[in-house]
Amino acid sequence: MWTHIASASSEGNQLDLYERNGVYMIRADGWELMNGAYHASEDQLGRLAGLLPSASHPAILVGGLGLGYTLASLLQTLHKRLWPARPRITVAERSGAVLRWFGSYINPRLAATLPSGVRLIERDVVAYLGVDRRWDVIVLDVDNGPEALSTPGNAVLYGEHGLARCRDSLAPSGHLLLWTGCEDLNFVERARAAGFSVTRQSIPLPNRSDQAHVLYVLSREPLSSADRDRVSLDG
Ligand SMILES: C[S@@+](CC[C@H](N)C(=O)[O-])C[C@H]1O[C@@H](n2cnc3c(N)ncnc32)[C@H](O)[C@@H]1O
Repeated sequence: MWTHIASASSEGNQLDLYERNGVYMIRADGWELMNGAYHASEDQLGRLAGLLPSASHPAILVGGLGLGYTLASLLQTLHKRLWPARPRITVAERSGAVLRWFGSYINPRLAATLPSGVRLIERDVVAYLGVDRRWDVIVLDVDNGPEALSTPGNAVLYGEHGLARCRDSLAPSGHLLLWTGCEDLNFVERARAAGFSVTRQSIPLPNRSDQAHVLYVLSREPLSSADRDRVSLDG
């Protein structure tokens, strides 16, 4: 049984935080935006975002804090891989309530011990995209897939024009990462039309052997087979 912890309104959305046995869930307008009982795809996004950059001091943009599983996994991966280099991570979260809930309920320990190069900012991730940006990796986990579910404004991110804007915001060997509940071939086509090379990874779901999420790696330059093997991507 989930216990209701807090409510907030965020630019027209009603957000609710629930807890069950130490696990949290956020609903947006009653719809399950993030459930801490299932976070394999969020963890893998963070892991890949930490493994893919070739730069020794990468700049990484994460769109959407949610319950912070992607951020935690990213920090853990970068710490193992690049320590003692300091990460430069910007997490853009549109809801101030989600940021406050993270520090007070969801993961106060992580919130209090973030490395100095990590910034959690109340802002739409779109504000961090632009031709003068040079992110090594952009992670988009604002909607659980390339469809505007959190807020209609997110639709700009997934059309050919928005994808081209993401591409132009990346360093020449940069990557855009996102996951989806089911393969979206139209999205893959749009990503290719926007100039990306697309690689996928299947993420098996614990206790659901017949189902898998799909993680997309959209790269400005095609990934080498050595890189694909290094981060275990399917192709
Ligand atoms: C599915 S959750 C993210 C899950 C997260 N990866 C995790 O590990 O828990 C989506 C988050 O993105 C935020 N969000 C939605 N649209 C956004 C936008 N345009 N810019 C920034 N944050 C956004 C929501 O408020 C929510 O906190």
